[in-house]
Amino acid sequence: MSGGIEIPVRVTQVTPVAHRIKRFRFERLDGGPMPYFSGGAHIIVSMNDNGHVRRNAYSLMSPPYDCSAYEISVLHVEDSRGGSSFMHEKVREGDEMRVSHPVNLFQPDWRGRKHLLIAGGIGITPFIAMMEQFSREGAHFELHYAVRTRDRGAYCEDLVARYGPHRVKIYCDAEDNRIPVARLLDSQPLGTHLYVCGPAGMIDGVLKAGLEAGWPEQNLHSERFLSSQPGKPFSIELTRSGKTIHVGHHESMLEAIEAAGIDVPFLCRGGACGQCETMVTVCDGKLLHNDVYLSDEEKASGRKVMLCVSRFEGNALHLDL
Ligand SMILES: Cc1cc2nc3c(=O)[nH]c(=O)nc-3n(C[C@H](O)[C@H](O)[C@H](O)COP(=O)(O)OP(=O)(O)OC[C@H]3O[C@@H](n4cnc5c(N)ncnc54)[C@H](O)[C@@H]3O)c2cc1C
Ligand code: FES
Repeated sequence: MSGGIEIPVRVTQVTPVAHRIKRFRFERLDGGPMPYFSGGAHIIVSMNDNGHVRRNAYSLMSPPYDCSAYEISVLHVEDSRGGSSFMHEKVREGDEMRVSHPVNLFQPDWRGRKHLLIAGGIGITPFIAMMEQFSREGAHFELHYAVRTRDRGAYCEDLVARYGPHRVKIYCDAEDNRIPVARLLDSQPLGTHLYVCGPAGMIDGVLKAGLEAGWPEQNLHSERFLSSQPGKPFSIELTRSGKTIHVGHHESMLEAIEAAGIDVPFLCRGGACGQCETMVTVCDGKLLHNDVYLSDEEKASGRKVMLCVSRFEGNALHLDL
């Protein structure tokens, strides 16, 4: 598999955290230390579901300098294609699993004079490790964290207790309490960097508000927990290997190609890292680009496709694989 060398781990703790959210602790099977990572990093967790391998990205939330274990928190999504259901329903303490080495596509910019963190729901996870690092390095930061209801908000009380109410503010939709994005953006010292992770609508809204308020684009950072969307089944021809691959309703192109025994590189499986970019040789139909990696021009050209999240509708799609 082309996400790099995997680390065999044991699940040493499974802890219910909030409504439909569980935390998982992984320790190396050989007892050695886990590789260091920096706040914002994620791993790919491989799940062996009766011979069917599922692979999902999860942000690391344990302290980055603690190599004794990795911890992730997983939301059991309502319309799961299987990964978050597997983690919630099948994974038990003592189980053996495999995880990738960490990759960081959501690095803090250490040049920032201040770090303004905006989280929605399960989008809190990358910020938990980031805040540990900011706090240890003495960096100036502030978290604004929106939850739908108090029982769905993971780690609200812990974070306020750890960093203080002056640095951690919780907003609850059910109490009609929203993050005052415009006011926050207007009141930051020059050189502040903003980071947002949460539902797509929240990320889009915050980034748009930042640009409209005159923030430089390079000071605005985001991470989307994208995954492959279901859609109409279709077939692809792989020109170099001469194979025809059928992509099912719930399957991504990447998953279907892997199931046929062909290795494709990946780092995020969420349309953000660029690793699975593939050249299109014939496209008689419409590519449904769901990634945030290719530019609008690249998407319009129809010459490239990201296999992890994009789909196709039409007569023929040939890929240079
Ligand atoms: C870099 C990265 C980091 C991630 N970190 C985390 C994390 O720390 N914790 C976590 O729980 N998930 C995280 N995710 C999402 C995770 O990889 C899976 O997509 C998610 O667990 C759902 O997987 P699934 O197999 O159950 O269903 P999928 O088929 O992947 O998703 C099913 C449906 O649920 C929606 N969905 C996917 N993720 C979410 C979500 N987080 N909230 C609401 N709806 C969602 C999708 O739009 C889709 O329609 C991350 C994703 C990426 C790319
Ligand atoms: S694996 Fe990262 S964009 Fe596809």
